[in-house]
Amino acid sequence: MDYPVNMEVEPVVKAFFDPATNTISYVVRDPGSKACAVIDSVMDIDYAAGRITYAHADEIIAYVRQENLELEWIIETHVHADHLSAAPYIQEQLGGRIGIGDKIMVVQDTFGKIFNEGTEFQRDGSQFDALFKDGDTYTIGNLEAFVMYTPGHTPACMTHVMGDAAFVGDTLFMPDGGSARADFPGGDAGTLYDSIQKVLGLPDEMRLFMCHDYGPNGRDIQWETTVGDEKAHNIHVGGGKSREEFVKMRTERDATLKMPTLIIPSLQVNMRAGEVPTDKDGNRVFKVPVNGL
Ligand SMILES: [Fe+2]
Repeated sequence: MDYPVNMEVEPVVKAFFDPATNTISYVVRDPGSKACAVIDSVMDIDYAAGRITYAHADEIIAYVRQENLELEWIIETHVHADHLSAAPYIQEQLGGRIGIGDKIMVVQDTFGKIFNEGTEFQRDGSQFDALFKDGDTYTIGNLEAFVMYTPGHTPACMTHVMGDAAFVGDTLFMPDGGSARADFPGGDAGTLYDSIQKVLGLPDEMRLFMCHDYGPNGRDIQWETTVGDEKAHNIHVGGGKSREEFVKMRTERDATLKMPTLIIPSLQVNMRAGEVPTDKDGNRVFKVPVNGL
């Protein structure tokens, strides 16, 4: 298969693990310039207290400044349901364009209804600076990147390939973690299987970077693997597991999972490109739709 970018280039990838939500954010740097991208940043929330802070994002900002990098892109692999994006906070301090998959419109439509957002909430993705379509290419300095639709976990999930590194969002977990759930509104286990096959179709030696890790069976947190390793060892799809087996396993397993602790505030923020919703007086507030999810 032909890919539209040079996959020989090896970007420098710096990971930032958030223990509160088990999210891994990344700064990805063009090895030939000072240009970089931030992927899947996290804004801290104490939901019980309604308090938002920025320690995790500040760490990323400090790194970018310390290394004298120029931030070109702030990428969201999808609308996360378990943590809040810090994209606008980072953009305010470092610049860069906030990008997400164009299927964000489907997600905005679904959750716009669930949260009864009314007509002032735009469902056209206009809160973001860039909407990516399947196969779109872009650059970070001289580093070439392209995007692949990888829906299933959510309808808007995308995998970003930058040189020899791919950022898979929640399409895959580490081999011993398997895959992410596919039971959120708009999710689909069969579609997720097909998307995983697309990722596994990338070159074997390609580096894969996860958005989450939960350290299964007590191992230390990890976030980097390869296509070859996932193909051989992933507990949900490795060794050539069939679509049928996967859908059965995923559906049964998803039925046992509770909603993520932060799903209510996460969706409201992330479908707005990281902005907290406001009431009619401009105060920042979250809604909790009763029996809405
Ligand atoms: Fe997710």
